[in-house]
Amino acid sequence: MSIKAEEISALIKQQLQGYNNELDVEETGIVTYVGDGIARAHGLENALSSELLEFSNGVYGMAQNLETNDVGIMILGEDTGIREGDTVKRTGRIMEVPVGDDLVGRVVNSLGQPIDGKGSITAADHKPIEHKAPGIMARQSVFEPLQTGIKAIDSLVPIGRGQRELIIGDRKTGKTSIAIDTILNQKDQNMICIYVAIGQKESTVRSSVRTLEQYGAMDYTIVVNAGPSEPASLLYIAPYAGATMGEYFMNNGQHVLIVYDDLSKQADAYRELSLILRRPPGREAYPGDIFYTHSRLLERAAKLNDKLGGGSMTALPIVETRAGDVSAYIPTNVISITDGQIFLNADMFYSGVRPAVDAGTSVSRVGGDAQIKAMKKVAGTLRLDLASYKELESFAQFGSDLDAATQAKLNRGARTVEVLKQPLHSPLPVEKQVLILYCLTRKYLDKIQLDDIEQYQNDIFDFFDTHHADLLEEIAKTGKLPDTDKLDTAIDEFAKTFQPNKKDEEEAALGD
Ligand SMILES: Nc1ncnc2c1ncn2[C@@H]1O[C@H](COP(=O)(O)OP(=O)(O)OP(=O)(O)O)[C@@H](O)[C@H]1O
Ligand SMILES: [Mg+2]
Repeated sequence: MSIKAEEISALIKQQLQGYNNELDVEETGIVTYVGDGIARAHGLENALSSELLEFSNGVYGMAQNLETNDVGIMILGEDTGIREGDTVKRTGRIMEVPVGDDLVGRVVNSLGQPIDGKGSITAADHKPIEHKAPGIMARQSVFEPLQTGIKAIDSLVPIGRGQRELIIGDRKTGKTSIAIDTILNQKDQNMICIYVAIGQKESTVRSSVRTLEQYGAMDYTIVVNAGPSEPASLLYIAPYAGATMGEYFMNNGQHVLIVYDDLSKQADAYRELSLILRRPPGREAYPGDIFYTHSRLLERAAKLNDKLGGGSMTALPIVETRAGDVSAYIPTNVISITDGQIFLNADMFYSGVRPAVDAGTSVSRVGGDAQIKAMKKVAGTLRLDLASYKELESFAQFGSDLDAATQAKLNRGARTVEVLKQPLHSPLPVEKQVLILYCLTRKYLDKIQLDDIEQYQNDIFDFFDTHHADLLEEIAKTGKLPDTDKLDTAIDEFAKTFQPNKKDEEEAALGD
């Protein structure tokens, strides 16, 4: 039996006709490289920038580099289950996270999945993690105060709702503590807080969450955690995910406070990914779009106009410096994007001035409008007092004879520094801050020994709570300073009863 050539070709033709190209190069690709949290895939001709892609083992990735021959993909999860030759599919969606009230009180990862073991989350909706910031017409200027409860901040660098204020300082200078204490002070202030931990040690995050729980702050807080052991892609997207969760509340007319702790680690994660994606490195090996990475994130903080509900999102990004160098790349970028910075000075921190807010280099460019009148009045001279104190302090060390005016300035400066000290987790309501700063600027503290100032503060607060609660209430309600005669009489009344407590010292002496 012979086979005719025509038959063969007919058979082949027949087979070819029925052949359905299963691999649609426009919608599906083949992995050609995988490693270090990055994959490259051939095909995927139609993939969009930042589109979510699904690998054959169910792990997701985000399309990054769209090149002629292949697509660079950031893997949003473990890359160990992905092999060269695997297929990867388009989903047609942009990366999204769940949003809604159900997230409040929970600890989630960058994808919005719960990691606190308290069960699943019912999302009100899903929203893309990248979202265009509100434009100029949608905004109004910042005018409501955001009370941090920290004297040194509320008096010197006031923050308004909708502002972006950078917290910057070396490692271990109390950056996180300021952010956490600010969240604690938002209790009953009608605020939703979001704490985004990026690359923080799991133990640090755990203790922050415990502090929030202890003070009842988890009732209004969402924690987004991307730990250092997670893929760099999750560290990179964490702040955007947090911002999306915050925007949901802002668009509902609520007030939101969001902390990014910290953006240096996010920038490092993005640098790592960009280098492996073979994007050209620029200064300090960061990719060219590192500025845009932070500016588009921080622009999402806003105070919306009344037509849009008047909601706000205040951002407190944190950046770590090395040896106080604020002129490094990431610090200068973020300083120029934000509306001011709180600079934490390591020397001050170690010499016991805590919180170590450096009055000379800290500013708030918009918060002044949001400060209450009473605070403006009593805090007006603080910055000057501190500046001249710093200048004179070095002279005073020579021990030469000082004239009375210089001596007075030194006295006042030392007392100002003392008053602005504040222990951890003890936010002070604004009316009490006004009271103690009033005592300071009205010279009541000039006669008090430096060591007794802490006790003076505690005692005067107790005294006013029991005898003059009306005056404190007046400040809190009207935002104005009460009749100064009344205030002076009340303080004089207190001064008569004030007894510096020497017991502690005696005990200390005995202890030695
Ligand atoms: N006002 C304060 N009074 C007393 N101790 C403080 C104060 N603020 C911070 N500390 C202590 O200083 C230490 C460092 O604080 P914190 O973790 O907030 O610093 P950080 O700058 O966020 O550090 P890291 O570089 O690790 O992120 C903590 O042990 C904290 O308890
Ligand atoms: Mg920290």
